[in-house]
Amino acid sequence: MPHIFINTNRSLGTIDPNIYGQFSEHLGRCIYQGIYVGESAEIPNINGMRCDVVKALKALHIPVLRWPGGCFADTYHWRDGIGPQAQRKTIVNTNWGGVSEDNSFGTHEFMELTRQLGCEAYFSGNVGSGTVQEFSDWVEYCNMGGVSPMASLRRENGREAPFNVKYWGIGNEAWGCGGNMRAEYYADLCRQYSTYLRSYSPDHKIYKIASGANVDDYHWTRTVLERAGHVIDAVSLHYYTLPHQDWQHKGSATEFTESEYYTTLHKTLRMEELVENHSRIIRQFAGGRKIGLAVDEWGTWYDVEPGTNPGFLYQQNTMRDALVAAINLNIFNNHCDTVCMANIAQMVNVLQAMILTEGSKMVLTPTYHVFALYAAHQGAQQLESYAETSILRHDNEAVPTLHVSASRAADGKILITVANLDAAHPAEAQVLLGGVKAAAVNGTVLCGTADARNTFTAPDAVQPKALSAVLTADGFTAALPACSVAAFTVTPQ
Ligand code: AHR
Repeated sequence: MPHIFINTNRSLGTIDPNIYGQFSEHLGRCIYQGIYVGESAEIPNINGMRCDVVKALKALHIPVLRWPGGCFADTYHWRDGIGPQAQRKTIVNTNWGGVSEDNSFGTHEFMELTRQLGCEAYFSGNVGSGTVQEFSDWVEYCNMGGVSPMASLRRENGREAPFNVKYWGIGNEAWGCGGNMRAEYYADLCRQYSTYLRSYSPDHKIYKIASGANVDDYHWTRTVLERAGHVIDAVSLHYYTLPHQDWQHKGSATEFTESEYYTTLHKTLRMEELVENHSRIIRQFAGGRKIGLAVDEWGTWYDVEPGTNPGFLYQQNTMRDALVAAINLNIFNNHCDTVCMANIAQMVNVLQAMILTEGSKMVLTPTYHVFALYAAHQGAQQLESYAETSILRHDNEAVPTLHVSASRAADGKILITVANLDAAHPAEAQVLLGGVKAAAVNGTVLCGTADARNTFTAPDAVQPKALSAVLTADGFTAALPACSVAAFTVTPQ
């Protein structure tokens, strides 16, 4: 029987709630249709935001939402998206499908979305095709409480109080769609932009996130940290899970072999190595300052659903994705000493989404349910955990059967989240709790075949359900179904 050890006496610190962040780009049907339908739409909405989608997302307690991109951010000129909607410029989304969009969703609408969700805003600013002045003006527009040209413009547009946007990304993927820059060039630009991104109140200091590395580009992280580390609060990292590293044939979201299933999980597990190596570099060059790692794009990336616009990145979501989410979130929890934020790509209708919509219909994906199972980790104290588990070998790739993280909330309750990666066999797990005696344990599990999914005709095919656990002298035991993600809440004596 595999053992899971939880040591309640050892912790790396607090799990930053922002690890459970989301990302919403002007891409396909994420913002338009998925979230924002406009006030005159027949779909029930409040100030243009879909009521069904907002209600479902609120249950996840989203801490922070990144916007407007992605690649879109480095083509976005924020002035196009303010003022009376009828007078806004229609632009072409050159990154994603070449579609026109009317800019009816801009700064004020995004801030209304964050108000409805109760989350912080994370703006990704345009460095690739914008100017220092334009970016600096956006911060002033959002955050200046007194009298200034940008604060006056905001007031003309109906908003008296500053929005106090805390998180600002200095470009996106500057090595690629954000300008094809060299690390050295970007580091200099980052210094320059950062100089003019001001905090307008000592009570609302802004938090600057440098555009970070693609996967294992350690030279990028080292160069940015070495040259611009003193002007930033965090540096980002992007790592997507592609079953096949061929961008023309990444693999299907729903039709996959057992071998592709294990390859997907194996590639996801690489996040640990990436987080550890980038974190080492950050520590080496931070000079004692606290600089975080913001994994502000992660998740699965498959071939689009057949028949959909290739530029819209619309994909289905199965139990395989649930395991990918569980593994990544366990890794972020277990590296909460450096990982200050993570933003799954993306919130609705794009890549590894929480929610899929079709007209007025909506389905919650298995990934949504994993975020719900893990929500209580937010702001809790991470606890050391370890799974003594067998190794599953497929082809030349090995993955552990069980993958775990744990935390203790302010009320003393302990949350243990475990994924059983074995697609075919249940695992009888013995959880050993060090430093605490359990008075009660409650379990919930999400499971199904690896390709199980929720569709518009069967929206409840994959649902969390109760999982029994039996208390023992030193913890508890539970039978974890094959291909499952479980969450156990332990009430200590
Ligand atoms: O999330 C989709 C795209 O992936 C983003 O726009 C870009 O930053 C990344 O390459």
